[in-house]
Amino acid sequence: MSADTSVPQAVAGLRIGDLAPDFEARSTTGPVRLKEFRKRWLVLFSHPADFTPVCTTEFVELSRKAQEFEHRDCALMALSVDSLFSHFAWLRMIRDRFGIEVRFPIVEDPTLVIGRAFGMVAPQDNDSATVRSTFFIDPRGVIRAMTCYPANMGRSIPEMLRMLDALQAIDAQDGLAPANWTPGQPLLRPPTHDLDEVFKSPGETDWFLRDAPTEDKA
Ligand code: BEZ
Repeated sequence: MSADTSVPQAVAGLRIGDLAPDFEARSTTGPVRLKEFRKRWLVLFSHPADFTPVCTTEFVELSRKAQEFEHRDCALMALSVDSLFSHFAWLRMIRDRFGIEVRFPIVEDPTLVIGRAFGMVAPQDNDSATVRSTFFIDPRGVIRAMTCYPANMGRSIPEMLRMLDALQAIDAQDGLAPANWTPGQPLLRPPTHDLDEVFKSPGETDWFLRDAPTEDKA
């Protein structure tokens, strides 16, 4: 396994808008290279450890919803410090206990070279476990959103799907997703930068707070 050497190893401060650092690694579906996932959306997420209760529920629920990610043209990729053989044993246990086959790749990162490049572990942290980081990466390889949950709290899979829906709608309609936005609701129009439009707008908030035209209304 190797991380792209053109990427500084201690870029724990990845930000929205950064290109996701490329890496090659072994995974449960064979060797993976991050760059090869471009042209589609990718949700890359870390989990603290295999064979732990909260992580098991996350993998079961993500696998149940795998088709929903596919419908959004989005691949899933998981990562932890555990070895490939630990991942295999855990997936076998999940299959036997829950009847669910986890078919998206789970990357092994025993040296934490990838986890550190993505800031999934604190650079000085003595605990090798990655936290529950999630990166929403667009088809150009750009990080568009990130979340970070503690080890003792599982992620919401509906919220992951909602975030993906919002990012895709924002791109398609060049709009802004308001609080609690869900698919089917209008986006907001970006505010004007033109003072004449500010003075001409009929209501006092219309120039900066108004729905974007929907496809139906357009
Ligand atoms: C869990 O997935 O249940 C877990 C993992 C690490 C620490 C605590 C809980």
